[in-house]
Amino acid sequence: MSLSLHKNNKKSILVEDFAKEVKDGLGRKKKKLNPKFFYDKRGSELFEQICVQPEYYPTITEYKIIIENINSLLKYYDNKDVSIIELGSGSSKKTKILLNYFLKKQEGNLHYFPIDISQEMLYTSSLKLQNDLPKIINHPIASDYFEGIATVTKFISSQNNIPNNKLILFLGSSLGNFEPKDATTFLSNLRKNIKIEDSLLIGFDLQKKKNILEAAYNDGEGITAKFNLNILDRINKELDGEFDLENFEHLAYYNQVKNRIEMHLISKVKQKVKVNKLNQVFEFEKGETILTENSYKYSLKSIEQLAKKSNLRVERNFVDKNEWFNLALLRPF
Ligand code: AVI
Repeated sequence: MSLSLHKNNKKSILVEDFAKEVKDGLGRKKKKLNPKFFYDKRGSELFEQICVQPEYYPTITEYKIIIENINSLLKYYDNKDVSIIELGSGSSKKTKILLNYFLKKQEGNLHYFPIDISQEMLYTSSLKLQNDLPKIINHPIASDYFEGIATVTKFISSQNNIPNNKLILFLGSSLGNFEPKDATTFLSNLRKNIKIEDSLLIGFDLQKKKNILEAAYNDGEGITAKFNLNILDRINKELDGEFDLENFEHLAYYNQVKNRIEMHLISKVKQKVKVNKLNQVFEFEKGETILTENSYKYSLKSIEQLAKKSNLRVERNFVDKNEWFNLALLRPF
């Protein structure tokens, strides 16, 4: 493993970024916060807990899809070794199972490049992976996704023993948290950064009955509520904010017109909240909400349209028997 291969030093930039976005987001008429800020240490732990809640079907469904379709998936890579890149640091059971199968199938070594902006997350998950799958040659890269892919491409072409063809994983329906136009821009950019022989495996949560969707974002244990409220706690800790978490409540519902789950924090009272490091006071009416996340739900048709607009084609959809989730194998046109 070459843990020290590529590092960056973006922590201070992230705090500034957080301050700027909080100021802008809470200063709007329709208040909002960027969901990327959910994932501090506590938020990431809570997210891991969400993934094992019985109501939160996406994680387990995607896992089952992988297990049940692994042989069909591997057939697309017969006689061709690949290097695997994962967007987001993959310590998950899902990634491990995939890596393990590719490891067994490939003729040469399996090179794995997890890319994540958070060096800490990357480090922790890389150590876990090293422990569980010591035969994998792991090259963690702390950077944003596109910079990371460029680094991998350069690195691979500078070596002569690393497979040139890349399989890029973007699991867990993370693309669903992008606004549709941003998802298109993201995939188009991804397309520009890969070769015709490369492929993408992307998780998409599918449209389904409202009650199933809403239950997934309102789990009985209240973990999603804690995850949502943690963003205010983060403002308190990092920006010296004075949010009283008791004065806000988690709200998640399915917007059927836009095909998305919307997560909000709703103000239980009329209140003013100071955020000292921003030198700002934010006013809330009783019932006013902060939009903290959209989670778009796709159909096979909308996935195909998204791929097309991004200059990609759907090679294969791997869908579970309930048709709740799709793992789409995409390739460049
Ligand atoms: C990371 N992302 C795909 C999750 C989702 O389902 O949109 C985040 C999440 N928010 C609440 N629960 C899970």
